[in-house]
Amino acid sequence: MELIYFSKTGNIKRFIHKIENNAISGNADLLVNKPFILITYTTGMGQVPAEVDTFCENNKGFLMGVIASGNKNWGSLYGLSADIISDKYNVPVLMKFELSGNIYDIEKFKEIYKGMVKNELF
Ligand SMILES: Cc1cc2nc3c(=O)[nH]c(=O)nc-3n(C[C@H](O)[C@H](O)[C@H](O)COP(=O)(O)O)c2cc1C
Repeated sequence: MELIYFSKTGNIKRFIHKIENNAISGNADLLVNKPFILITYTTGMGQVPAEVDTFCENNKGFLMGVIASGNKNWGSLYGLSADIISDKYNVPVLMKFELSGNIYDIEKFKEIYKGMVKNELF
C-alpha cells in the first residue's frame, strides 16, 4: 500500500516524518500503478487543492482511501477536502488530523495503515 501525500506549507510533511513511512510526495503529473492512500491538505473554503484534484482524476483506479489535514478553526469546513474526495471517488475517509498531527493521530494512522495493508493481502 503506497502512501501519497501533498503538503503546501509543511504540516503534512512533518506528519510523514513522524510516522516513518516510505511515503511519496505527490504532484499533479504523478502516476501511481499500485493501491494507495492519499493524504491531502484542505485549501480555500473547504476545497480540494487543484494539484490533488488533477492527481486524483489521473489515479482514481488505485485510490483506496483518503486522509485530510486541516484546522478546526475552519469549523464545518474542517478537513472537507477528504469528504469531497470520498464522495467523488467512493472511497472511505480514513481519518482527519489538525496541522501536523499529535501523538494520538500518529497511533491512529499506524493502526489504519496496518489494517489497509492486511486488506490488500487477503
Ligand atoms: C488559504 C488556506 C485555506 C485553508 N482552508 C482550510 C479549510 O477550509 N479547512 C480546513 O480544515 N483547513 C484549512 N486550511 C488549513 C490547512 O489545511 C492546514 O494548515 C494543513 O495542515 C496544511 O497542510 P500543509 O502544511 O501540509 O500544506 C487552510 C489553510 C490555508 C493556508
